[in-house]
Amino acid sequence: METYNIALIGFGGVNRALAELIATKNSLWERDLGFRLNIVAVSDLYLGSVISPNGLDAKTLVEANFAKGGFGGLSGGSAEADNATVINTAPADIVVEATFTNPKDGEPAVSHCRWALKSGKHVVTTNKGPVALAAQELKALAKANRAHFEYEGSVMSGTPVIRMAKNCFAGAEMKGFEGILNGTSNFVLGRMESGLDFASAVAEAQALGYAEADPTADVEGFDVRLKVVILANELLGANLQPEKVSCQGISGISRFDIEAAATANSRWKLIGSAVRNADGTVTGSVSPRQLPLEHPLAGVNGATNAVSLNTELLGSVTVTGPGAGRTETAYALLSDIVAIHRAQSGNLAKEAA
Ligand SMILES: NC(=O)c1ccc[n+]([C@@H]2O[C@H](COP(=O)([O-])OP(=O)(O)OC[C@H]3O[C@@H](n4cnc5c(N)ncnc54)[C@H](OP(=O)(O)O)[C@@H]3O)[C@@H](O)[C@H]2O)c1
Repeated sequence: METYNIALIGFGGVNRALAELIATKNSLWERDLGFRLNIVAVSDLYLGSVISPNGLDAKTLVEANFAKGGFGGLSGGSAEADNATVINTAPADIVVEATFTNPKDGEPAVSHCRWALKSGKHVVTTNKGPVALAAQELKALAKANRAHFEYEGSVMSGTPVIRMAKNCFAGAEMKGFEGILNGTSNFVLGRMESGLDFASAVAEAQALGYAEADPTADVEGFDVRLKVVILANELLGANLQPEKVSCQGISGISRFDIEAAATANSRWKLIGSAVRNADGTVTGSVSPRQLPLEHPLAGVNGATNAVSLNTELLGSVTVTGPGAGRTETAYALLSDIVAIHRAQSGNLAKEAA
């Protein structure tokens, strides 16, 4: 049985949910997956940082209700978030990056991943920034240091898309994809179908916690654009940057548009898509599209996400599931760690043979 020491960078919704899972499910994982997780360090902008080589009690971490700088009161703790020291010196096998997504240059998360991989630690992350903006560099660093860089949760939370497409569609010749990749905008469009205007629907999404105080990234398509870049680069072998993906959100959709679509037996959806062109190049786009009701994405409602993968040999295959949620996204991190564990176990078996 393996124990993986992990360092958590960021201790907000997602990493806190991972700590909750560790507190309750380590024995189950030990039995079913062959490993357990031990938190040896945490660094968070608000709480500070702590390194504990023997491990921190996950339940205490989750339940202690620390005040600002509260990790400073723990043995091995500091009131400041010293990410560099934590990543470089904590005795961690895996660094779990779940700080905020910076859509411009991915920082400081890109640096967090870079430091970890350079010191030979695996990285698992749910942060779109490093994956959309620096994946090539980080994958090369991982390879050079015999480490893994895994990021299933960067698109569609814990719903498997990236690894599933790579593992299960090999040889099927991926031609493109189209998806509903932002639950907030999908929720807003659904509420507009129920009669609300755009502003009221956004206000309701904010009241329910689906939308941020500043909903721009969700409703103007910028969040989807990063996900299109990630999926196009991962599944179609493209090398897209966000500025190469045309982007139009849903703020221009009126109640009149919604009603006209209903009359025509169709619905508006914000679609992120990419297609491989005849010359091998890949074009990505984000735009509202009026889909006929029989389209596989037309029935995807509320905060749910879905992506239809278009393949040469299998036709279109649609995957639907949660696109957000702290526990769902923490599950993506677990799935990344399972992938690392299986790869490591396979390598050990090969070496022993
Ligand atoms: N929640 C989801 O459903 C979901 C789904 C898919 C992907 N993701 C991605 O996963 C990541 C984490 O999401 P989340 O929901 O856990 O966000 P969150 O609740 O905002 O947590 C992020 C945490 O990281 C801390 N932080 C920010 N910058 C930091 C830094 N430089 N060093 C150390 N800590 C830092 C924040 O502290 P402060 O609060 O003090 O700034 C906060 O505690 C984000 O990139 C998000 O886009 C989330």
